Amino acid sequence: MKKLFKILGILLIIVVVFAIGGYIYLNAAYPKVSAAPDIKIEPTAERIERGKYLANSFAFCLDCHSERDASKFGYPPIPGTEGKGGFDYGADVGFVPAANITPDKETGIGNWTDGEIFRAITSGVNKDGKFLAPMMPYTLFSKLDKEDIYSIIAYIKTLKPITNKVKDKKLKFPVNLIFRTIPADVKDFGKKPDGLDKIKLGEYLGVGCKFCHSPSDKGEYIPGKEFSGGVEFPLPDGRVIHSANISPDKETGIGNFTKELFIAKFHAYKDAANLDPKVHGFNTPMAWSFIANTATDDDLGAIYDYLMAQPPVNHKVETVTLKGLN
Ligand code: HEC
Ligand code: HEC
Repeated sequence: MKKLFKILGILLIIVVVFAIGGYIYLNAAYPKVSAAPDIKIEPTAERIERGKYLANSFAFCLDCHSERDASKFGYPPIPGTEGKGGFDYGADVGFVPAANITPDKETGIGNWTDGEIFRAITSGVNKDGKFLAPMMPYTLFSKLDKEDIYSIIAYIKTLKPITNKVKDKKLKFPVNLIFRTIPADVKDFGKKPDGLDKIKLGEYLGVGCKFCHSPSDKGEYIPGKEFSGGVEFPLPDGRVIHSANISPDKETGIGNFTKELFIAKFHAYKDAANLDPKVHGFNTPMAWSFIANTATDDDLGAIYDYLMAQPPVNHKVETVTLKGLN
C-alpha cells in the first residue's frame, strides 16, 4: 500500500512538473510571429476612400471597435465613438474588450508604425508582440489583399483621436493558453478579384458573413455545413440567438430569395422603425444597419450570387432559444 502511494506521489509530481513546464513553454514560445514589416503606407485619397468603405462594411472594423447601441437592432455604432473600443466580445471565455484603434497617442494606436498595425490586423499580435484574442478576426483579414489592408490602415489613421483607456482582457484557463498559439506569420495573402467575376467578388467580401453563418469545430469550418447557420450568440439576458441558414436551400435557407429581395432586406434597416428590437422580439449580433448604410447594391448582389453558387444545406434553425433548451 505504502509503495502504491509512493508511486502515485511520484506520478503526481511528474504530472505537475509537466504541467508547469508546459505552461512556461507555451508562455515563452508563443506567439511565434516575426518582427513587424518595415512599411510606410502612402495615404492617397484613393486608399482612404477604399479603406473607409471596407472598415465600415464588410471588414466590420468600426462595427466592433465603436461604442454600440444596445437599444437598437443590430447594435449599431454610436456616432462620434468610431474606433474608441471597449465593447466586450468575451462571451463565454472571459472579458475581451475591443481595442481603441483611433490615432490617440496614449490610449489608441497613434504611436504604432504602419507595419505594427499591419501585423496586428493580419497576424494577431500587438505592438509589443503579445497575442490578440481571435475575437479580433485576424485569421480572416489575412485572406484580404495586402493593398486592401493598406487602405484600411490609411483610413483608420484619419479617425478622430479619442482618449479612452480600454481595460486589459481577462481569459479563462485553458483559453488563455490556446489563444496565444494561434497568431502566425501570413504566407499567402488574398487577391482582390477584378470585380467582373461576381461570385469571386462575393466570396472575397463575404468572409465575415461566412464566419458567423457557418458552424465550425476548433476554428475550422465543418465541411458540407457552410452557410447553414445555427452558430450560437449568447445574449446578456440568458437567451441565445442562432445565425440564419443562408445557404440556397429552398426549404430552410434563402433559396427562395430573389436578388432584389436579398438587397431589400438590408435596405429595410435604413428605416429607424426597423431598428427597434421590440419589433423583432430580440436583438441581433448581425450588423444589419451598419452594412445597409454603407455597402453598395452591387457588392450585396455579388454576395448573393456567391451564396446562390454554394451547395444548399437543409438545416432548420430556430433563431431564438433559451440557453440550454436548444
Ligand atoms: C468581431 C469584432 C472585431 C472586428 C470585426 C475587428 N476587431 Fe479589431 N479587435 C477586436 C478585439 C476584441 C480586439 C482586442 C483583442 C485583444 O485584446 O486580445 C481587437 C484588437 C485590434 C487591434 C489591436 C490594438 C491593440 O491596442 O492591441 C487592432 C489594431 C485592430 N483590432 C484593428 C482592427 C481593424 C483594422 C479591423 C477591421 C479590418 C478590426 N480590428 C476588426 C475586435 C474586432
Ligand atoms: C456577427 C455575426 C454575423 C455576421 C458577421 C453576419 N451575420 Fe447574418 N445573421 C446573424 C444572425 C445571428 C442572424 C439571425 C438573426 C437575425 O435575423 O438578425 C442573421 C441573419 C441573417 C439573414 C436573415 C435570413 C433570413 O432567413 O431572414 C441574412 C440574409 C443574413 N444574415 C446575411 C448575412 C450576410 C450577407 C452577411 C455578411 C455581409 C452576414 N449575414 C453577416 C449573424 C451574423
